[in-house]
Amino acid sequence: MGVVIRKMKVEDLVDVKGVDLLAWTDLMERSYGLKAKLAPRTDESILSYLHSDPEGAFVAYDEFAGAIGSCFSHVWGRTGWVGPLSVLPSYQARGLGKELLKRSLQYLEDQGCVDIGLETMPENATNLGMYLKVGLRPEGLVLVLGKKLERLELEEEPSDGVTVERLSESSVQPHIMSQVKRISSAVRLGLDYSKEVELAQEYSFGDTIVATSKGKVVGFCVVHTVARRTNMPVASVKALVIDPASKADALPPLVSSAELLAADAKVPEMSIAMPAISRRAVDIAFSRGYSVLQTFERLMYIGSSGMSDRLVNLSSWSG
Ligand SMILES: CC(C)(COP(=O)(O)OP(=O)(O)OC[C@H]1O[C@@H](n2cnc3c(N)ncnc32)[C@H](O)[C@@H]1OP(=O)(O)O)[C@@H](O)C(=O)NCCC(=O)NCCS
Repeated sequence: MGVVIRKMKVEDLVDVKGVDLLAWTDLMERSYGLKAKLAPRTDESILSYLHSDPEGAFVAYDEFAGAIGSCFSHVWGRTGWVGPLSVLPSYQARGLGKELLKRSLQYLEDQGCVDIGLETMPENATNLGMYLKVGLRPEGLVLVLGKKLERLELEEEPSDGVTVERLSESSVQPHIMSQVKRISSAVRLGLDYSKEVELAQEYSFGDTIVATSKGKVVGFCVVHTVARRTNMPVASVKALVIDPASKADALPPLVSSAELLAADAKVPEMSIAMPAISRRAVDIAFSRGYSVLQTFERLMYIGSSGMSDRLVNLSSWSG
């Protein structure tokens, strides 16, 4: 039998967590000289990737060693992305990472995605080399901005005519879901974040903040309050989008409400990924006390993610 790549099952959770931990600990030690022990991913983190697209999650399985690699795919309408991708250190540099990646890329194409990509650490020569050899091309820099949350300092941002509410408390959820689809596709044709909104509610990964102006939904922000790793209690914005047709300034109230949501969930830190080119979003984050924690390069296999300084379309494509 040797090594086979097959669809991941929920029962693979423990094995996949083990592969992830060893692959990423090795990366931290080799590339960054970090000796501190990396904590395992939380079950919620792995499950958020698996539930997002069970058919596009793959595990490489060795008949003697068990799980030796894993890869997840994510379909957001006609946009798709890959990650996280991990191979056990002792099985690296034998073509397995590329095979897993190709399975995900093929899966995303089969789902009808026309904009397909991923994010990786730009300083990592192996990853960049591998992705370029498989045919991906750099699109632009993504910044991960973060800040510590002090509950007492947080308050709802006063805003001219923009009101915000949590989806979990809304009485018009079906209407909001249709607006999430409309606004997603307005920033990138065919893009659809509604699955992320549903997942956050269904599995209690977090909640979605919805901004309304003059009776119309003008933006939304999906916030995860579950930690990615067991010793890293950081809330993260999965997607934050503003209707390009709206004149209302919904960005500050959405960010402040996301922070309040995280603080209410007793999470002490917040992170938001945004294209570096999104000047206004970056400036607002700096003015609210965020600093750059990490950078990623977004690479595209086909199409584009439509990074633009005119649009607010902030999302994280990295695991
Ligand atoms: C990234 C990772 C999945 C790669 O897995 P792998 O099984 O070692 O990868 P492969 O052997 O299939 O492919 C590596 C490719 O990169 C190429 N490569 C490696 N270093 C390179 C460099 N410095 N310059 C150019 N190409 C390079 C290799 O030549 C190979 O391509 P080839 O087979 O066409 O020659 C693995 O290193 C890993 O798990 N890393 C830790 C977690 C991680 O970083 N995940 C990705 C996050 S975006």
